[in-house]
Amino acid sequence: METTTLRSQWKSLYQVAPAQLNKMKQVHGVVSAFNANIDAVIKIKPELLLKWVQVLGVDAPAVLAEGGRAIKTPLDVLRGFVQCFKSGAAMEWLVHDESAFQWMRSNIGYDRLQMGGQGGIIGNVIAVCGAQQVYVHCASLPEQQAKLFVNRANLLSAKPNGTAAQASQINRENDLPLIHWILEFDKGDTLTLGGQSFTCPKSNRFIATWDPENFRLAIDKAFDQLIQNSKNVETVLLAGYQMLSHPLLDGSSGVARVDESMKIVDSWRKAHPSLCVHFEFASTQDVAIRKYLLEKVAPWADSIGLNEQELIDILEVAGQIELAKEVHTNLHGSSLFKALEWLFKATKAKRIQLHFFGMYVTVQKKNHATKPETTRDGMILAATIAAAKAGTGSIEKEENLLWAHGREVADVALTELQAIAIQLGGAASLVNTGVWSGSEYDVVAVPTILIEKPITLVGMGDTISSLSLIGAK
Ligand code: GLC
Repeated sequence: METTTLRSQWKSLYQVAPAQLNKMKQVHGVVSAFNANIDAVIKIKPELLLKWVQVLGVDAPAVLAEGGRAIKTPLDVLRGFVQCFKSGAAMEWLVHDESAFQWMRSNIGYDRLQMGGQGGIIGNVIAVCGAQQVYVHCASLPEQQAKLFVNRANLLSAKPNGTAAQASQINRENDLPLIHWILEFDKGDTLTLGGQSFTCPKSNRFIATWDPENFRLAIDKAFDQLIQNSKNVETVLLAGYQMLSHPLLDGSSGVARVDESMKIVDSWRKAHPSLCVHFEFASTQDVAIRKYLLEKVAPWADSIGLNEQELIDILEVAGQIELAKEVHTNLHGSSLFKALEWLFKATKAKRIQLHFFGMYVTVQKKNHATKPETTRDGMILAATIAAAKAGTGSIEKEENLLWAHGREVADVALTELQAIAIQLGGAASLVNTGVWSGSEYDVVAVPTILIEKPITLVGMGDTISSLSLIGAK
């Protein structure tokens, strides 16, 4: 079909966004756990990076070296940044040495502080979209963190006695502020290092994280108690596991922390029998943890969310090296969809959603409680609001939520959609309606609205995954 016709067809499908947003008011309790932190965001231009290279007195080959994906020295911050910049990738590396963190504090600075962590970002967005009660878990909640939660009565966290209070008004004054550095970079910028020039293919960010509480997936007992005792809890969105290592920095078991969290969530399942547990994979650098998440957490969850880089990382840890290579060298709909199907089968998942440049694709079991068309409408809501986030820089104000409503989906997204349809044997229904029904599973694919010059990108994936699921009403 002609692109113009297809574009206008999708524009009509997108008309559902305001009605879908309105339905968010019918959503009861949503739990967002476990990681909320403070993000110190800064835009890095090539000149600034070169200045740090000079200040540190390091040479170009050291900055360009692949090496381990962890930060032990300030040089590793530069290495991680350059790796992301060169390929336009999103990565998060953990800072394993406090003195490297101190160097960042004294030398990097920031343009702004904002709510961070999948848990914190999701809590804010779901609350602004109007769900009745949103419970957000905080390993740490000093005033500096609390102030970054939206000032809304429906966004709650736990007081030390296990009762609920508005998250933005809690002040656990002895808690440690957990600050992550978000180094953003722009598509089209050119970095010249050691005689080589790299032009950034896609705006994105590199995250350097120092977070002693979330590094051990600290879980607040009072919050656990609050969720056990609350009524009408429907969905739990889980993330934060990517900050674990095995062993932990103190030598104790990292996977034991995963087990502990699953035990707690299982007890929530007991208290709320129809609970849906969503697991957001996130960029997990520790290979033992990543493998454990794939083998234990993914099959245990009711729903999984991830992006293309996380999918490649999973393939690698699962020993699917050929497929990983294929996806890596051809980061497009056809190969990504092949990898997604593999993951769906390998985990025996009920629902998995992958998001990548311009597209969201959900694979769900046949006869899933949510009809594929409803899943699609949730994804359309998510795409509309994610575009508002990219275009306005903030969706903390309700009036910004539908900023992108009425815009057309991107042509590159329509090309990817067609590639996925071909992978499915030429599924016209997928191209025209976003839904393909198979005998064992259904596929829902939504091309999205792309914002040419996004104001921010951090937290996009969290917004997409959570709203697609919660907004499918
Ligand atoms: C990770 C980072 C956090 C950031 C979030 C965005 O959780 O630790 O700093 O806000 O990703 O998705």
